[in-house]
Amino acid sequence: MTMHDGEGTVSAWQGATQVVRAGLPPKTAGTPYLPGPVFAAPYHAPGDPSLTPYTYGRFHNPSWTHYEAALAELEGGPCLLFPSGMAATAAVLATMVPPGGTLVMPQECYYTTRVIASQPFDGAWFASQGIRVIMAPTAGDGLLRALEAQGDRGVSLLWLETPTNPGLDVCDIAALAARAHELGALVAVDNTTATPLLQKPLALGADLCVVSDTKAMTGHADLVLGHVAARDPKHHEALRLWRTRMGVIPGPMEAWLAHRSLGTLHVRLMQQCRTALAVAEFLETCEAVTHVRYPGLHTDPSHAIASKQMTAYGSVVSFELPSAHAVERFFAQSQLVYEATSFGGLHTSAERRARWGGDVVSEGFVRMSVGLEDVHDLIADLAVALG
Ligand SMILES: Cc1ncc(COP(=O)(O)O)c(C=O)c1O
Repeated sequence: MTMHDGEGTVSAWQGATQVVRAGLPPKTAGTPYLPGPVFAAPYHAPGDPSLTPYTYGRFHNPSWTHYEAALAELEGGPCLLFPSGMAATAAVLATMVPPGGTLVMPQECYYTTRVIASQPFDGAWFASQGIRVIMAPTAGDGLLRALEAQGDRGVSLLWLETPTNPGLDVCDIAALAARAHELGALVAVDNTTATPLLQKPLALGADLCVVSDTKAMTGHADLVLGHVAARDPKHHEALRLWRTRMGVIPGPMEAWLAHRSLGTLHVRLMQQCRTALAVAEFLETCEAVTHVRYPGLHTDPSHAIASKQMTAYGSVVSFELPSAHAVERFFAQSQLVYEATSFGGLHTSAERRARWGGDVVSEGFVRMSVGLEDVHDLIADLAVALG
């Protein structure tokens, strides 16, 4: 991927370089590499407002601009920042599926995405717009068949999430995007578990890519943020208007913190991927553990497709223990695994997913997010906790 450096030259940079340098302003003597967060509601804006880059805090902000420029380099298309992954998801669903349209989505994608699309609740956007929502499995050809079964009624948007949270199923983005386009549907991918460092949905043919930057993108478990990348400038503009007019805007501090954290994404996530594979391999040897899922395992049903479209397999591993009680015992005996929701951060954490309801998982299903602790310490801790 090509990009401009601070002096305006163009260079082909690897992901490791991109995350460190992308979005930084030109080198100017006496200025910081990354300017601090800009806190402003109105800006000085005399006369014609179109001649001023910044006018009002709900419209634009320099801290968003820098981080969005960095994200655009990673994603391969212009990006918009949102105050959470769900704000980014809702913006895409609300602007890309017209009233009376059809949405096809995975039946095991992130719980809240399914909820806002399908469950009527007060003021539910989809229910009130007469939108049909069709759910199908991510693994196998369920999404393809759901897409094709709509015939003349057509599909407005095919929503994908790969690997899925929490089941870690994958689907073939390029194949599904090609068929969806033949049938006139747009394609959006929730790329949260992979991040644009490991998987590039726009390059694989998707129209839109949604990410919760709350997770590995920022990685320090200290902020909530999301973004959308769009291939088509008219989709980017529709999303920008949605953000501006609905007022779903991120805070400048979060944008700055995210950009600061992006610089270590490559070292963090690649190390997490290495440790996650070692943890998954270890879990497979544990007597009490069944159904270990990690797309990086050669034996995993997701491995072949994940290897085609991902450069590494992420920080999330899932497995099953015989009961809810066995999971409680696991947490009680572990020193290193925090019992917490979310994933992608530098602290190893896990949760018994069934405690929330909503996902079709067993009582003993555990989603684990592998962090940056020493791999030997972590495996020793898991051996005690699962012993
Ligand atoms: C796959 C996926 N998409 C979207 C979201 C929503 O992100 P946020 O919590 O930043 O709103 C999550 C949160 O867990 C997620 O796991």
